[in-house]
Amino acid sequence: MVEAAEARNYPLNCWWVAAFADEVSMQPLARWLLDTPVVLFRTEDGQLAALEDRCPHRQAPLSTGKVCGNAIQCGYHGFQFAADGRCTKVPSMARPAPLRVECFPVREMGPLVWIYLGDKAQIDFVPPPPVFSWMTDANFATRKGMMEIAANYLLLKENVLDLTHLSFVHGDSFKILDWTDPPQVIHDGETVAYGQEFIRSPLAPGYAYSIGVAPGTPWNRVGTGKFVSPGAHESSTEMFDPDHPTVSSGKTCFAHLTTPIDSDHMLYFYAVGRNYAADPAEMDEFAHILLRGFHEDKEILEKVQAMSSRKPRRGGQGERSVKADEAGVTARRIVDSWMNRETLS
Ligand code: FES
Repeated sequence: MVEAAEARNYPLNCWWVAAFADEVSMQPLARWLLDTPVVLFRTEDGQLAALEDRCPHRQAPLSTGKVCGNAIQCGYHGFQFAADGRCTKVPSMARPAPLRVECFPVREMGPLVWIYLGDKAQIDFVPPPPVFSWMTDANFATRKGMMEIAANYLLLKENVLDLTHLSFVHGDSFKILDWTDPPQVIHDGETVAYGQEFIRSPLAPGYAYSIGVAPGTPWNRVGTGKFVSPGAHESSTEMFDPDHPTVSSGKTCFAHLTTPIDSDHMLYFYAVGRNYAADPAEMDEFAHILLRGFHEDKEILEKVQAMSSRKPRRGGQGERSVKADEAGVTARRIVDSWMNRETLS
């Protein structure tokens, strides 16, 4: 049985990114995920563990303690808990106490650690974490990062499903000025995807330099994006020489992975990979431009969140949508269907 869904707009019965794999070590890592305190760590035998970050004795965060062998030791009175949450030691007693910390299923897939904080009886009926094959493909050079944004996670999902904001939010960073028309949108089951084709359109500097042409050179490219799950969105840009339109000049893939902290904050994990211009210095430069752009998204989304958290618009009118919002509005409905399943389960 799950709690009433009205207070939140994210499903619990879903896999979410908790951390990058290289963030999790024998040093406890504290995260608030889905309004839940979580501590992630690896045990001495290499097992990945996620427990509620709240000691059942006096509620001290377990993350203030340390990993001792295959258990985590609370930093207050030293109780120890195994990776499955069982209490294994109480220093002031001859035996462990019959206590348990909630243990959450986790999966390490490539550079990502996914977590499931929902109803464990439903876990086999929930779509598994998505696979981003390019993240572990040797042909792709990759970069990744994470930032905390003071906004509801759905704001970022809508942001990446409507790229008509590119010219206005990222005009000075990405310099992609030709994404002006609503893309073609395909709604298939519980995914929604868009596709946009650009023919002999001026190439932005971030792409142009990487394939050895001057910024503004007319070039063909195809942009795609897909709502994969409430926690995952993937997108790509592939370029084609207009004189050889079936020959790829290179493909860039993105993953936008949003995990609610609470209703007004999210963790935004992002990753990018490309199968061209893999030189580390060039990738660093590309990642630098991206990060600048992602900070621009953070800035506008935090302003949107701050405004929508205040009094409703005078006259009681809500938001109005246009054609370019089609994918974002569809994504909201898909999230609603995930939420409705929980209410019924
Ligand atoms: Fe954790 Fe006392 S609060 S051992």
